[in-house]
Amino acid sequence: MGNVSSHAAGRSSVTAGKSRVVAVLGTQWGDEGKGKLVDYFAGGFDYVCRGNGGANAGHTIVVGDEKHIFSHLPSGLLHDTPVAVLGNGTVINVPTLMKEIEALEAKGLSVRGRIKVSLEAHLIMEYHKELDALQEQRKGDKKIGTTCRGIGPCYTDKVSRIGIRVSELLHPESLAQKLERNARLLSERYRTDLDWKFEYDQLMAYREQFLPLVTDTVMLLDEALRAGKSILIEGAQGFHLDPDHGTYPYVTSSTITLGGVCNGLGLSPMAVTEVIGATKAYTSRVGKGFFPTELTEKTGQHLRDVGHEYGSVTGRPRRCGWCDVITIRRAVAVNGLTSLNLTKLDVLTGLDEIKVATGYTVDGEKLDYVPTLTAQQEGLKIAYETYPGWKEDISEVRSFTDLPATAQAFVLNLQELIGCPVSSIGVGPDRQALIFL
Ligand code: GDP
Ligand code: IMO
Ligand code: MG
Repeated sequence: MGNVSSHAAGRSSVTAGKSRVVAVLGTQWGDEGKGKLVDYFAGGFDYVCRGNGGANAGHTIVVGDEKHIFSHLPSGLLHDTPVAVLGNGTVINVPTLMKEIEALEAKGLSVRGRIKVSLEAHLIMEYHKELDALQEQRKGDKKIGTTCRGIGPCYTDKVSRIGIRVSELLHPESLAQKLERNARLLSERYRTDLDWKFEYDQLMAYREQFLPLVTDTVMLLDEALRAGKSILIEGAQGFHLDPDHGTYPYVTSSTITLGGVCNGLGLSPMAVTEVIGATKAYTSRVGKGFFPTELTEKTGQHLRDVGHEYGSVTGRPRRCGWCDVITIRRAVAVNGLTSLNLTKLDVLTGLDEIKVATGYTVDGEKLDYVPTLTAQQEGLKIAYETYPGWKEDISEVRSFTDLPATAQAFVLNLQELIGCPVSSIGVGPDRQALIFL
């Protein structure tokens, strides 16, 4: 338990210990390879935590011939020791989470005893998924292209103060009343017919297995900091899907920034010692919305084919384009990134030349953000820098100086343009395919 003397001395958990707290956040539109880095580091951490999103995330870890996809749970559970935390800012679909746990156990991994779910996280119900699909259908060609996991409707209920939290499972009677009320209210609001009873029964069936995972995760992490334990935070989604900072309205519904993710864990941002931005050496986006550097011709297809750019949750083909310094700089600024994990450099191998977007203008005026107004999007002019490519296979390279000279120059130029040092480079999907600088 906690360090009582630091409580007594009135010191906060931030000043009490010397804990290492590292956050790995996506800087683009998600799928930057956050999971792989988190898995790489997790063996050396006491806690691995998610503070935002739900099963819309899909984080892939490749170990030899085996592929593991984490969706609700933080990557890192492949290691024996770290405790996994799903914080108050996450949204939980109990059956999906329990199935993910069962799938890990079927692989012989003992995880159940080290998963901690916040009492304050909100529950994603089947009616949220139904509403997600319904809203998409009604939007017609304005649809967002969501993962249909009920994310938007669940966070909508949270902020409109009718959401149902994990703690409600402790009180089945009031839970039934709230579900009945919500199904009625939402059916009226959205002119549809939502059921809740079958789901209540399902929740009750999972209750015994699920409740032992539930706890006050805020105090758990506070005690962890006081005891000098290390914490790894895994971001979900990417900066430009953030509802404030992203390409609104083509965004997700939970905040993705360091501040948001810390809030979603009840952890002071002052506790964080390192913030690493996962950044693809090109860009991908799944779902709809403006994508300035998108390549719709053969180079885009090349990136999709070589990078296996298909959604890990929905299997949808990801849209691909050139790396965009303007988008990443903004993620550096808002999150206070201390370094970048440049991922998928190997996917650029074989291209004669590689482009990087370095500036936006509209009607001759400089723009430092991705425009969301149609008129600006239509008038956007993008300046590119072009770099020579390399042909050598780099997937076995483990030292920066062993990379082809053109690849080294590309990385060094990119970090200069972005204004943030590159601390690691991904050269393949395997967990060991990393170069540390
Ligand atoms: P996340 O959502 O940010 O964790 O990323 P995803 O797992 O959804 O997507 C990244 C994909 O790229 C996965 O299939 C990874 O196995 C793969 N990947 C990650 N890093 C690298 C890399 O450096 N090179 C290659 N070729 N693949 C990578
Ligand atoms: P990871 O953690 C990529 C996208 C969806 C859609 C928009 C809204 O794997 O990087 P939602 O279901 O959240 O309401 O969908 O956000 N999206 C992601 N795209 N990676 C993700 O997660 C995503 N999570 C949501 O495609 O455009
Ligand atoms: Mg993903």
